[in-house]
Amino acid sequence: MFSATVSAPTNIACVKYWGKKSVALNTPINSSVSVTLDQNDLKAVTTVCVSKSFKKDRLWLNGTEEDVTKSKRFMACISGVKRLATTKVSTEGEVLVDKSEWKHFGVHVSSMNTFPTAAGLASSAAGYAALVACLAEVFGAKETYPGELSTIARQGSGSACRSLYGGFVAWRMGNDHDTGEDSLAQQVCDENHWPELRALILVVSDEKKDTSSTEGMSTSVNTSKLLGYRASTVVDERMRSIEKAYTERDFETFGKITMQDSNQFHATCLDTYPPIFYMNDVSKSVIKIVHAYNRWKGKVAAAYTFDAGPNAVIYHLEDVADELLALMLQYFPDDKFLGSLFGSSFVNNPQAWDRAKAFGLDDELLRMCDAKGRARGMGGDVKKIYITKSGPGPIVLSKEEALLDPETGLNCYVKGVAGDGGGVALGLFGLGLIGFGFVVLGGAGLVLGGGRGGKK
Ligand code: DP6
Repeated sequence: MFSATVSAPTNIACVKYWGKKSVALNTPINSSVSVTLDQNDLKAVTTVCVSKSFKKDRLWLNGTEEDVTKSKRFMACISGVKRLATTKVSTEGEVLVDKSEWKHFGVHVSSMNTFPTAAGLASSAAGYAALVACLAEVFGAKETYPGELSTIARQGSGSACRSLYGGFVAWRMGNDHDTGEDSLAQQVCDENHWPELRALILVVSDEKKDTSSTEGMSTSVNTSKLLGYRASTVVDERMRSIEKAYTERDFETFGKITMQDSNQFHATCLDTYPPIFYMNDVSKSVIKIVHAYNRWKGKVAAAYTFDAGPNAVIYHLEDVADELLALMLQYFPDDKFLGSLFGSSFVNNPQAWDRAKAFGLDDELLRMCDAKGRARGMGGDVKKIYITKSGPGPIVLSKEEALLDPETGLNCYVKGVAGDGGGVALGLFGLGLIGFGFVVLGGAGLVLGGGRGGKK
């Protein structure tokens, strides 16, 4: 039996992927670009064990077994990485497995998120990136051209291809529509390029999202003329400008394009027939307050973006981090009752929370924000705030982090058991399985903390 454990980051797009050119290849109608987020704050962890004695491929997601034979996406990742497998040789040079033998090996996978799956924070991107990176580690996969592994992750979930690299990462849509070989991720800048860049994530209270990305894209491609216009006329120019802005650390241009592109993506959702609504009233209040803040600052100092859900990601620079968090805590504070019951795990960084609490916000700024119609001190609409920054791509972890038993290759991870994350999950989550493109059941619950869980 051979095994490895890998962690992988989420990413949040600044120019969005929305719409498939080929459903079979999972190629997009436009290029996109995203910031890879820091795995210290949000990550997926995956262990893969392979053995000739495994009768079939198996997957455990957040501790619960799934039938993977039904998931074309999952199976495409396994077969894709197997094709790039190399011969395994011991340190003494003895051949342990010839590359032609790997096809006879069954694959066991256990995967978990250190952040609430039901919150819709790009968990499928992190999950499939971790899967492909982990399979590549176990099989000693070698790319025949740069970015080839990202073409495999793309088949799991489009946005996952960007999570294979750290920093600022573009997904080039490619021209080869028969194979999808050149529809791949490329790092524009690494995670150390812009150390001052921060992301504030507001996990907004929400009912279960009723339209998955995959389904939403399909309806948009079939019905929205605006989406066609966006892909043919808008995105390429935005990609050039935002890559230049990021490279030059020009926050104003980076932030403006990020907000405009998020707004255009949600406009294409409204232009879809029947329309899709991913943002809710809380999301819209965040937008108004960010614009009021920027007007008061006299420049773009904060830039929101929303994926296929109501959660806000607000990019900003370190020098305004305390002020921006203080402002958000004024208008989107925690639920005082639950906060007093469980202690404040509302913000993932206690020092930042303390600094923001002590920050004296300007009266004129508050007056300008009040005028946007959102009352101050209304707790509970935001469930959790993450403060994070850009981070690296997948990381190989030690054997101690394994989620599969090294003797049996069976799952040994249990969700919710006190472990290194120590979070508390409340409510009816059912099976929160956004991670690998399965159905989400439940999701109407409430999550406090990370909920890392522990070993059996
Ligand atoms: C709005 O990558 O989840 O987050 O390829 O069907 O799995 P599939 O879609 P997915 O879509 C992400 C859409 C988005 C924008 C983005 O991340 O670029």
